[in-house]
Amino acid sequence: MPDTPTHNSYAAAGSVRVSPVLSVIVPCFNERPNVAPMIAQLDAALGGIAWEVIYVDDNSPDGTTREVRRIAQLDSRVRCIRRIGRHGLASAVIEGALSSSADYVAVIDGDLQHDETRLPVMLNALRAGGYDIAVASRHVEGGDNAGLSSRFRHVLSDGGIWLAQAFLPVRLTDPMSGFFMLPRVLFEDLARELNGQGFKILLDLVLSSTAPLRVLEVPARFRERAAGESKMDALVMVQFAGLLLDKIFGGLLPLRFFSFALVGALGIIVHLVVLGLLRQSTTLGFETGQALATLVAMIFNFQLNNAITYRDQRLKGPRLWRGLLLFMVVCGFGAIANVGIAKVLYEQHTTWTVAGGIGAMIGVVWNYAVSATLVWRAR
Ligand code: GDD
Ligand code: MN
Repeated sequence: MPDTPTHNSYAAAGSVRVSPVLSVIVPCFNERPNVAPMIAQLDAALGGIAWEVIYVDDNSPDGTTREVRRIAQLDSRVRCIRRIGRHGLASAVIEGALSSSADYVAVIDGDLQHDETRLPVMLNALRAGGYDIAVASRHVEGGDNAGLSSRFRHVLSDGGIWLAQAFLPVRLTDPMSGFFMLPRVLFEDLARELNGQGFKILLDLVLSSTAPLRVLEVPARFRERAAGESKMDALVMVQFAGLLLDKIFGGLLPLRFFSFALVGALGIIVHLVVLGLLRQSTTLGFETGQALATLVAMIFNFQLNNAITYRDQRLKGPRLWRGLLLFMVVCGFGAIANVGIAKVLYEQHTTWTVAGGIGAMIGVVWNYAVSATLVWRAR
């Protein structure tokens, strides 16, 4: 190995401190009041372990980053990654974990809902060998779920668990858990396969591994949120279903395409309903009705794609209006291509269903491909 001498001489020359054994990754958004108490709790829980904490903040308006940096200036175990133009819990976790050089990485919420005293238990178990990943579970003996904010959340949570369990290669009683630990090298191995969208990074990890991971479930309480508010909602669940679909279809088609096509299908229903209503209750001609229905369906599709398909790069404010305008232009061309191609096929004696279907398919692919680059430009 030619680079060994350099490496050795570098290490000998001036290492300031050893790399931590454990990096605690904390994805956060608007968690400023929870930062200082959380670090104090980690400090208390992790005595005797060389640890660091890495906050990954998506440029929270409440000044979360400023608060973490303030403490980081006093304590070198505290780090902060401030992300601008990138959003989302899963991708924040990935970015934080990939910035670690420790032996183990743990992921924990930044709102004090997870019980940090479980961390040394997880670390000891992993170090003892026999397991690939330790997961805090609310659903094994000794864990509990009291902190879920509402009945609705309980239903969402139970439904998600049931759905996930049906597809999982391993037993995970709490597949939605956002609190777990694994060796850093294992994370790095799996990182390339991760989907990175939405909330469910643990599921993503488990589903991305070719060999089933050996999971240790550690019972944990889920506390009430002390300050700030939850970012989890029904849309997160839609994304979660998408993650499962994506893994089942082995990434053959991009997840976004599924979502885009599904939104498109809903748009057709909206279109027909609007057209039907207009014809029933107004004296407008067919063409005017058709034009109005198209307009409504386009706005509906744009809003839904902006909220779900492109949730992670959602357009807001003036960019929303610009996006809507562009989307309508793009879909306009899509419609022209759709009708044009269907017409040519039909004239060549294809049946109307095949001609219409192929036209529509080409329209969807066009709309998807062009709006992905023009409207929701990956920043
Ligand atoms: N960087 C970043 N970007 N962090 C985020 C984002 C984001 O877009 N959205 C949420 N977070 C952070 C929050 O600040 C918090 O630290 C953590 O991720 C969890 O978010 P919450 O909004 O508090 O989630 P929850 O309490 O509703 O959900 C918890 O329970 C779920 C299962 O029911 C979490 O533990 C989830 O991980 C878990 O899946
Ligand atoms: Mn929470």
